[in-house]
Order: sequence, then C-alpha cells, then structure tokens
Amino acid sequence: MGARQPERVETERLVLRRPRADDAEAIFERYASDPEVTRYLSFPRHVSLASTRAFLALSDAEWSRWPAGPYLIESRDGGDLLGSTGLSFETEQRAATGYLLSRDAWGRGYATEALRTMVELARDAGVLRLYALCHTAHAASARVLDKAGFAREGTLRRYFVFPNLSPGEPLDVLCYARVLG
Ligand SMILES: CC(C)(COP(=O)(O)OP(=O)(O)OC[C@H]1O[C@@H](n2cnc3c(N)ncnc32)[C@H](O)[C@@H]1OP(=O)(O)O)[C@@H](O)C(=O)NCCC(=O)NCCS
Repeated sequence: MGARQPERVETERLVLRRPRADDAEAIFERYASDPEVTRYLSFPRHVSLASTRAFLALSDAEWSRWPAGPYLIESRDGGDLLGSTGLSFETEQRAATGYLLSRDAWGRGYATEALRTMVELARDAGVLRLYALCHTAHAASARVLDKAGFAREGTLRRYFVFPNLSPGEPLDVLCYARVLG
C-alpha cells in the first residue's frame, strides 16, 4: 500500500483537511444541497442531513481503507468552508479526483489550487494514474483540469449518469488524466 497522506494540508490560500462528523451541517448548507453546485456532480443533491451523514461515513471508510480519501476545502484566512475535493482510490496505483466549491467561492482559482494539491498527494501515495471525468459542456471544470496539467484523453460515450441532470440516462463525458510515474 502507498504512503499514508496527511489529514491536513495547507496551500497558499487554502486548508485541505479530512472531514469530521461535526461538519455535516456546514457541508449541507454551504454546497451539498445547492442545485447549481451539484448540477454536474456524481452524487444526488442532498435533500436532508441524512445524505450528508452518509457521505461522512463513506469518507471514514475510504480513509480507513486507503492512503487518503475526501478532503474539505477551507479558507486559510478565516476558516470558512469553501468546498470539497479528494482522492478516490480504485487500486493502489489508480485514483479518481474531483472538486466542488460553494457558489461564493467560484472564480478565484481555488479549484485549481486544490486540484494541484491532489496531484501532489496522489504522487506521494504512489498513484500512477490520476483521472477525472467531466460533462462535455462543463467548460469551467475542463479549464481547471487543463490548468492543473491533465491531458484530455477522449470522450467516453454514453458512459456516466449524472444524477442531478439526467437520472437514468448515461451521457457522454470527457476523460482527463495525469500520469504520475
Ligand atoms: C467548476 C468549479 C470547480 C471551478 O472552480 P473555480 O475555483 O471557479 O475554478 P478556477 O478559478 O480555478 O478556474 C476556472 C477556469 O474556468 C474558466 N471559466 C469559468 N467559467 C467558464 C465558462 N463558462 N466557460 C469557459 N471557461 C470558464 C475561468 O475563466 C478559469 O480559467 P482562467 O483561470 O483561465 O481564467 C466551480 O465552478 C464549481 O465548484 N462548480 C460546481 C461543482 C462542479 O461542477 N465541480 C466539477 C465537477 S466535474
């Protein structure tokens, strides 16, 4: 198994840290229940705190099993909850990543800063392939992946069900990846 990664990391403007049980209300209110934030995400928008608590249980399970898992994104200046990112291990050497920010945190480069940190943690954990999927119309997310050095590998046709956009119908997605070793 690759090296265990820190549960708290500081970047220039952000703190990335492992979620805790008492984060549920803030996660729910800041982004997980927001239809605009969750539009292109892989999880159904949270309609009650039960969904948020289920995410926190899943996060603990990931952290127990793998070298890392989900991280919350906070402002270094003031500690406000801004969003979430993380590493989702599929094997010891392959992981997926993603990122989301509450609406008031968009457009300041935070997603790119968080994603670059996920690349470093993944490399330190021994990941060889770090990838992300993105809706074909989601230009802002595609730009974040470009800026963080991910290569667009192609379109996976009729591949992914976006639960908040096309429940029950797989849509085309862009596949981006960085090879780290
Ligand atoms: C997508 C998201 C993470 C971007 O976060 P962010 O911190 O605003 O991203 P950054 O500021 O690092 O970079 C965004 C880039 O996209 C560009 N951009 C933003 N909206 C755009 C649009 N509609 N079309 C083209 N480019 C766009 C910005 O100009 C910027 O590029 P630049 O630095 O070259 O100017 C954020 O909007 C979000 O959380 N959305 C909801 C959750 C989500 O969809 N997550 C991704 C799922 S794949």
